[in-house]
Amino acid sequence: MSARRGNPRAARVRSAGAVRRGARAGSTPAPAPAAPASARAAAPAPAAELTPVPAPRKRWTAPAIIELKRRGEPIAVLTAYDYPTALLADAAGVEIVLVGDSLGTVVLGHETTLPVTMEDVLHHLRAVTRARPAALVVGDMPFLSYQASVEDAVRNAGRFVQEGGADAVKLEGGERVADAVRRIVEIGIPVMGHLGLTPQSVLAFGGYKVQARAEPEQERLLREAHRLEECGCFSIVLEGIPARLGAAASRELRIPTIGIGAGPGCDGQVLVSHDLLGFTQGRTPKFVRRYADLAGVVRDAFTRYVADVKARRFPADEESY
Ligand code: KIV
Repeated sequence: MSARRGNPRAARVRSAGAVRRGARAGSTPAPAPAAPASARAAAPAPAAELTPVPAPRKRWTAPAIIELKRRGEPIAVLTAYDYPTALLADAAGVEIVLVGDSLGTVVLGHETTLPVTMEDVLHHLRAVTRARPAALVVGDMPFLSYQASVEDAVRNAGRFVQEGGADAVKLEGGERVADAVRRIVEIGIPVMGHLGLTPQSVLAFGGYKVQARAEPEQERLLREAHRLEECGCFSIVLEGIPARLGAAASRELRIPTIGIGAGPGCDGQVLVSHDLLGFTQGRTPKFVRRYADLAGVVRDAFTRYVADVKARRFPADEESY
């Protein structure tokens, strides 16, 4: 049980205040259970206090994610780096929330994910797990947190679970991280793999370029995907590879593939939420579908606010004490 889990057998009837504090977006309130006859006779509680709290929602687990693939159900994954986004992604029904090291580029303003630290990810992981989502929360292990030794990898994966409340961790790479993956899985932490255009290798790739276009690289990616499956990964992100390769890997593996720029043949899809929302400044990759223009909405709101302050239209009487 991770640090953020509550006791599922906790009392189901609490004060109205507890109901409001406990309520989460997307949860369905359960009817208040009848009190046992003895309790009713002994101390009838005032009706106002017998307010139902939301029924505990089913929490996604790594085995349940694998089961989705067996049933042929697509898996929806989004990144989140803060509490409100985690609440909204969870309410929308994603099965996995990834606290990606992409936070380095989309939130912290770095040019690549390489400067992201364990402390950076932990800080945002805690904000996400405070939302207590039903979705499985995956903490993305940053550059240098798992490459130097298997010991580092195990200790840092453990920190994500123990200090951040993660349900699983993600590592980039194939053969070179196989021992680390195996050991992390052995100590009981589910691991998501990541192959293809792995952003922590951007310097070696010479930029963000589609990977595995040639036959030998495609064979290597498939070999490495099988190796990660053997080492116990419960899923693998496939990023920036030809759609046919994404589909082939998805057919060959028993565990689900989660694609990002890897075509429609993957078992699930992940997008960086800032990209999907149109909150990312500048160009986004071809594989991004923008579902909103949040940057436009925010720019407009900020501009109108500044104009109102300058024109002394804000605050109005009804906004003053
Ligand atoms: O960091 C991240 O957001 C990721 C996804 C793009 C898969 O690794």
